[in-house]
Amino acid sequence: MKTDIEILIKSRRSIRKFKNFDIGEEKVLKILELGRWAPSGLNNQPWRFCVLRASEKDKISKFTSYGNIITESNVCICVFIDSDVCYDRTKDLLAVGACIQNMLLMAESLNLGTCWLGEILKNKEKVNEVLNIDKRYELVAVIAVGYKDESPVSEREELDKLILLVGNI
Ligand SMILES: Cc1cc2nc3c(=O)[nH]c(=O)nc-3n(C[C@H](O)[C@H](O)[C@H](O)COP(=O)(O)O)c2cc1C
Repeated sequence: MKTDIEILIKSRRSIRKFKNFDIGEEKVLKILELGRWAPSGLNNQPWRFCVLRASEKDKISKFTSYGNIITESNVCICVFIDSDVCYDRTKDLLAVGACIQNMLLMAESLNLGTCWLGEILKNKEKVNEVLNIDKRYELVAVIAVGYKDESPVSEREELDKLILLVGNI
């Protein structure tokens, strides 16, 4: 298990090709467990999860042009925001984003690959329909999870381009 936070954050990549191996329930629960420890405004914990495997997972693959990533993955975690507990849309969505990042990092520490899928949100209502999930829960992301079958590289802007005002760092 990787423990160094810097190595963990920098080694996580979006993985879009997966090996055809099953992920045990214990690992999925561990990923959700770390998600629920994210911070949230007023500690309202607006995230909700739906874990899809096999045919269930494939039901939603047609709603995104990245459907092949869903099909190839072993497990998909649909992340919803619960409108009944929300108090400020921006803050609540940011909290769910923090929850998602926690889950991506937990998966990475288990040597599992993930891809955060957002393009599917163009069809978020349809996802609720086929999964029979109440409208009170709004889809925020689908996370495809599986054993990695690629090692992509990724770039970031240099830090000096990102700092708007240089004071004393
Ligand atoms: C809000 C959000 C939506 C994303 N949606 C998609 C998507 O629909 N399909 C996809 O292949 N990747 C998607 N990604 C992954 C990004 O393309 C990826 O994080 C970015 O290119 C940086 O690469 P890295 O994650 O490997 O560092 C999404 C990422 C975020 C944060």
